Amino acid sequence: MYSSKLIGLGHHVPDTVITNQYLSNIIDTSNEWIIERTGINERRWIDPKVDTVGNMGAKAARMALERAGLTEKDVEFIVFASITSDYYFPGSGVIMQRELGLGGIGALEVKNACSGFIYALSTADQFIKTGMYKTVLVVGAEIQSTALDLTTRGRNTAVIFGDGAGAAVLQRSDKPGILSTHLHADGTFAEELYVRDPGSSRPHAERQPEQILDTTGFKVVMNGNLVFKHAIVRFMEVINEALTKNNLTKEDINLLVPHQANLRISQYVQEKLGLADSRVFNNIMRYGNTTAASIPIAMSEAWAEGRIKENDLLCLAAFGSGFTWASALIRW
Ligand code: COA
Repeated sequence: MYSSKLIGLGHHVPDTVITNQYLSNIIDTSNEWIIERTGINERRWIDPKVDTVGNMGAKAARMALERAGLTEKDVEFIVFASITSDYYFPGSGVIMQRELGLGGIGALEVKNACSGFIYALSTADQFIKTGMYKTVLVVGAEIQSTALDLTTRGRNTAVIFGDGAGAAVLQRSDKPGILSTHLHADGTFAEELYVRDPGSSRPHAERQPEQILDTTGFKVVMNGNLVFKHAIVRFMEVINEALTKNNLTKEDINLLVPHQANLRISQYVQEKLGLADSRVFNNIMRYGNTTAASIPIAMSEAWAEGRIKENDLLCLAAFGSGFTWASALIRW
């Protein structure tokens, strides 16, 4: 059987920097509260005249292809993770495909929120292992800023989410690459972190209101405390599952790239695993939580900083809406 190697990483974030101070001028919060509870200093928000999920994905993809020494023409299939596609449907994988001039190749949409990139990576890995494709583009891209509830009611989500895109090029190899991926979900908690509208199971008049009087259903709703408690348990479980499956231990991890949900969550996981700072990569301070884009943006930056070297063991782990959680162990 073939293995899949990550041979190029890229990312793109919008230009506009939104500081905690800016947020505290529009909602009831403070720089101190945000830093203490989340570790976030600033995040990026899109300019709707400039950025789309599809074109940010394309910019990240071009960087990943260039770093891989490939061109668009080498891509045979796209797996695109996003819960904030430019249109309700179709997903933005096809928009990115159009931007990249790749009309004709398949584009699969993955809607698994913060775990989306690892689900997408796992999907691409299966296509490569079976021999169906040789080169697959895996992208996570999100625009969360335009769905945030910028009132006191929504302040627990308004302060944590940001926009951006990340991409990875996966290619067939006869050397070890992705060692294993582990995907989980528990729909019991679907409504603990979700956006309800425009949901299909809503009455006709609520799905297609002539006039929207109450926009609550279109905003992100999150039971932050419950999400936090589940996240720290599932992060540990799914990392240990991956290590056990590969007969490896936490000492073998060269770099842990956790989904950037909250710095306190990453620090908890780091402490439990007993990893030195040099073996964990966080950039939530600068970008907030960019959902499916967070892991590929972090990997791309870690690679550019020289933090990922040949033969390193990379561990990815994520938790988010669904609830879903996932991990991947990668030999670089
Ligand atoms: N600024 C100021 N106060 C805020 C606030 C904000 N942005 N958001 C919430 N608060 C207030 C609450 O209203 C509450 O006040 P009260 O005690 O008077 O009722 C108090 O702070 C504590 O709220 P709580 O929600 O318990 O805070 P927390 O310590 O759990 O931190 C989160 C909130 C969102 C930072 C935290 O729950 C979290 O990060 N959860 C995980 C989120 C996550 O990872 N989501 C994505 C999954 S991928």
